[in-house]
Amino acid sequence: MEDRLETIKWTLKKYNQEHLLNQYDNLPDNKKEELLNQIENIDFELIKSLYENTKKELKTQEAKIEPIEYLDKYKLNDMYKYYEEIGKKAIKEGKLAAVTMAGGQGTRLGHNGPKGTYDIGLYTHKSLFELLSDSLKEEGKKYGVIIPWFIMTSRENNSATIEFFEKNRFFGYEKNKNIFFFVQGELPMVDTEGKILIGEDGLIKLAADGHGGIYESLVKNKMTDKMRELGIEWVFIGGVDNCLVKMVDPVLMGIAIDKNVTAAGKSVVKANPKEKVGVFCKKNGKPSVIEYTEISEEMAEATDENGELLYGESHILCNLFNISAIERMGKESLPYHSAFKKATYIDADGKKVVPDGPNAYKFEAFLFDAFGELDDMAILRVKREEEFAPVKNADSAGVDCPSTARELYMKYYNL
Ligand code: UTP
Repeated sequence: MEDRLETIKWTLKKYNQEHLLNQYDNLPDNKKEELLNQIENIDFELIKSLYENTKKELKTQEAKIEPIEYLDKYKLNDMYKYYEEIGKKAIKEGKLAAVTMAGGQGTRLGHNGPKGTYDIGLYTHKSLFELLSDSLKEEGKKYGVIIPWFIMTSRENNSATIEFFEKNRFFGYEKNKNIFFFVQGELPMVDTEGKILIGEDGLIKLAADGHGGIYESLVKNKMTDKMRELGIEWVFIGGVDNCLVKMVDPVLMGIAIDKNVTAAGKSVVKANPKEKVGVFCKKNGKPSVIEYTEISEEMAEATDENGELLYGESHILCNLFNISAIERMGKESLPYHSAFKKATYIDADGKKVVPDGPNAYKFEAFLFDAFGELDDMAILRVKREEEFAPVKNADSAGVDCPSTARELYMKYYNL
């Protein structure tokens, strides 16, 4: 034990993080052990470089950006049926699984509890989780299968999420048979001096590592092994906060299979050139998503000979992957982006600090940063009103909020 503590102290000194043991002596034994385990698991070199990156001016790396080819679902003509048949066959053979990423904090929405438990105000008062489960079950029935559902939570919301599902009898799913829960990875938060924060529980203040953590956590939690056991070949990955998400789409699947690509993403056309969304593109010849902040006005407004925006395919976090691509990407590391957030912490004197504004950095990977690892990716443009009703903000924002999502949902389902 002494040796272990000495090694840890040496590491902390090396990285200027000695304060992490300030309250060690006051912790109960089980927490002492947990704190030491946490410290041993921190990649201090990574945290150091992520912190240093927050000080550097963000320069978009010189990259060759080009428009990406896409198919329009409603302009496929005879090919629609062709792709659909291929996809239907694979779904009937039980080759599709759905993953819902529900580990986010939902800070903008401001709901007290996991975002998936949020009631968007339909007369049924169904939660986002229930709306998603309704559609998944309904779609499965069409093909005579139960589509296995994998739900990614975070340490923060895992028990609340599972309790919610238990209370709702897993909406008819069977835990560990056709519905599975797994917890995403986390990284320590650091203050503006690069010091790792201690949370109110006396342990390292950790935050979910972003939706880009999905690949690694599917692999590390052996969800991909489970999928293989179930005979899954294709995995749809989407967010929890799009109440019109179409997790089962034979056309998308048929295209991926027919074109022999390892991933296929859905897009909706940008509402206008200035809309604040990331769009699909090719970066140095590879599929990618470029953020609205990274694209010049000229590029954002450029159109092709048919008047269509060259960079108009918004990424809506609805993507299908071959399981082999997930397994591969689960072993690669993605870049982390930093976000400046408000974080309550315990200071060097053991006092709780509740800041008024952002005070700490959180590091997140983005799911689409992995697209560049794919050799090719098919993009399918779908209709916004059929597949995209995001719940991001509180109603006061007026956009992408419960009332707009509710309206879109009711319109789509004729309620
Ligand atoms: P957002 O980027 O919109 O984040 O996530 P959020 O956490 O829901 O909301 P804000 O930014 O705090 O207001 C898009 C999707 O990715 C999931 C979310 O749950 C949502 O389904 N996500 C995001 C994760 O699963 N883990 C993360 O670490 C981040």
